[in-house]
Parts: sequence; C-alpha cells; structure tokens
Amino acid sequence: MANITLKEGVNWVGVVDWNIRDFHGYITSRGSTYNSYLISDEKIALIDTVKRTFSDEFIEHIFELTSLEKIDYIIVNHVEMDHSSSLPTIAKLAKNAKILASQRGKDALIKHYGTDFNVVETVKTGDELKLGKRTLRFLEAPMLHWPDSMFTYLVEDKILMPNDAFGQHFASSQRFDDEVDECELMEEAKKYYANILTPFAPLITRKIQEIVKMGIPIDIVAPSHGIIWRKDPSKIINAYLNWSAGTAKQKAIVVFDTMWGSTDKMARAIADGITSEGIEVKLLKLRAAENTDIVTEILDAKAVVVGSPTLNNQMFPTLGSFLTYTTGLKPKGKVWGFFGSYGWGGGAVKDMVEMAKKAGFEVLEPSVDVKYVPDKEDLKKCFDFGQKIAQKIKP
Ligand code: FEO
Repeated sequence: MANITLKEGVNWVGVVDWNIRDFHGYITSRGSTYNSYLISDEKIALIDTVKRTFSDEFIEHIFELTSLEKIDYIIVNHVEMDHSSSLPTIAKLAKNAKILASQRGKDALIKHYGTDFNVVETVKTGDELKLGKRTLRFLEAPMLHWPDSMFTYLVEDKILMPNDAFGQHFASSQRFDDEVDECELMEEAKKYYANILTPFAPLITRKIQEIVKMGIPIDIVAPSHGIIWRKDPSKIINAYLNWSAGTAKQKAIVVFDTMWGSTDKMARAIADGITSEGIEVKLLKLRAAENTDIVTEILDAKAVVVGSPTLNNQMFPTLGSFLTYTTGLKPKGKVWGFFGSYGWGGGAVKDMVEMAKKAGFEVLEPSVDVKYVPDKEDLKKCFDFGQKIAQKIKP
C-alpha cells in the first residue's frame, strides 16, 4: 500500500479510514484518509503523521520503505489530532529524528502531548531544510486550519503539502485525481471547504495570492486528507479562489423543520415564489438532511430562507443546532429570510432573526409568522416573500 509514488523518492505512507462517518460532527459519508509522505534523499523526512487508531498500519507503511530509526526529520504541519495523535509513538520509534513545526505548532504539541516536545525545533515562512538533492521550504498558514498550521513545499519536485487545505474526506483505494470520479471528488472538496474552511475565506484568498506572488511552480498538491491533485492542481486552487471570493449561483435554499405540517406548507409556498422568478431553489428539511450537506448547499447559494415552528416559546431544537453551526461558519454575502408558525405566544422567528443579525447576516424583513395553520391568504404572503427574496438576489 505504501508503494505509492508521487515522484521518485516521494511516497504516500498514509492510511485510509474507510468507515469514519462522523468527524467531530461533520458527516463523512465517504470516509476519509490521513495522508503522510515519506521523502527519501541523503536525509529522510516524514511529513505529518496519522490518527493514533491507525498507528500500527502507518508504521507498516513506513517500514516498507525504511526503518523508523533512519528517519532524520518529522515535519508537523498541523497539530490537530487526526494528523498528530500517532506522533508520540512514532517519535519514540524514530529516535534519531528531529521534529520540526511552527512556533505555535511546538506550543500546541507540548499542550497536547507533554514536555517531551520541548525538543521540537521551530521553522517560519521562508526557512529551508536541505535533504540532499531536495529542499523543503516552509510557509506558515495560520488558521488554515488552526493557528499552528503551515505548508511544506518540496522545491525540486514542485510538490506542495498544505495539510488540511485542498483536502477532502474521501476514502478510496486510489490516491490521485486522475484515478477517481471527478464529480465525486469535487463534491467532497466543496463539502470539506464549506464545513471546515468557510470562516477563513479572506485568509485563503490572501494565502493563495501570496503563493502566486512567490512564483513557486506547483506540479502536485498533496493534502493530508483524501485525493492528491496531480492531473490539474490549478482546478482545486481555482475552486478555492472562487469559494473564498463568495462566488455564488442564482440559487436559494429553504431550510425548515415542522411539527404538524404548517411550516412545511409555508416552505413550499415560499419555494414556489422563488421559482416563479426563475431562481433555482432547494427545500431541505432538518431531520431529513444533515447540517454538513446543508452548509455545502449554502456555499454557492445567494439566499437562505429558514423556517421553524415555535415550541415552548422558542425555535424548534433542530433549528438551534442548524443556526449555531451555520452562524459559526459565517458564510458571507447571502440574503437571509425567516418564517415560522406558532400556536399562541410565538417566539421562534424573533429568536432566529436575532441570532442571524448577531452573526452579521443581511436579513430581509419583515419575516412571515403564521398562527396555527396557514390559510390561503397566509400562503399568498409566503409566495410573495419568496418572490421578494428572489428579486433581491437577481442580477
Ligand atoms: Fe485534518 Fe485540522 O485537521
């Protein structure tokens, strides 16, 4: 399995996590991988490690190419445990290896695994490490995905190893973009960006501009999750530029939950109003759709309309989960609308609007709030609300 070569002397030695379905709340319906790369030159370098559960398999993969005592350097691009939790085991076995990380990476390693990691040597943007014929160059990339994150660039082979950036949660027996279905690959890359990197959009734009300015040629983008981009690395780089710029389609999403069908009827009438203006719409009912998939749909939508019944004077609990997740991701440049139904006191719509405004979202008001079951007149109001939303996002 480890005999997977990116370029001569550069091998994938990661593991495939076929059956993970919940990655700290992100629903990973196609599993994931934890990618690690072994670079064999006069000196041997290991780029990142894997989740602790897979330590034995990881060690076997490295052992197919070298014994662990021969590793000279372990590069820690990112300390989140999916990439570092096997490091304490590997560091003991690779007893001649120096460990390199960013300063924040070193601090985080000590906080995660103890003072044994005081020996970590730190690197910063522009620092280089000679391996023989090959050179590693480091580029700090704070918040892509954590403050400690950095990219490692293999100069002579033109391989960028950006850890979380450009990854996908996608388990496969294939390792490269020219070996898998392109639609599935881009679907998972989009989902990954939407659920993990959305809050850091401005930093992504700046980091890609910085790389372009540095003029470093890139033959291969080798992330730490999923498939390696070698056929056309510019495809994923351009996709990131589009997503981070907030490029969206003429598309609206209606997200709702319902208790006795009133909010469902309203959602359908609003969707009809949106469609009547020639705008694409998708209706997503919570408890039938995962938050993971809904925020993926939101990424390239221009409007999001959210509906909830009132339960005990508050929004329905599934809406609480959805809005907590979505406001945390801070998708920019969308128009938001809110609607709901209630029996006596109400409260759901008011709470949702407050939450959205607090997150800085642009909210189209007035919202639509209906008592008990919507009648013809109420449904007309919903239809009109849908039309107004559509008109707001039309070019
Ligand atoms: Fe794949 Fe931020 O860890």
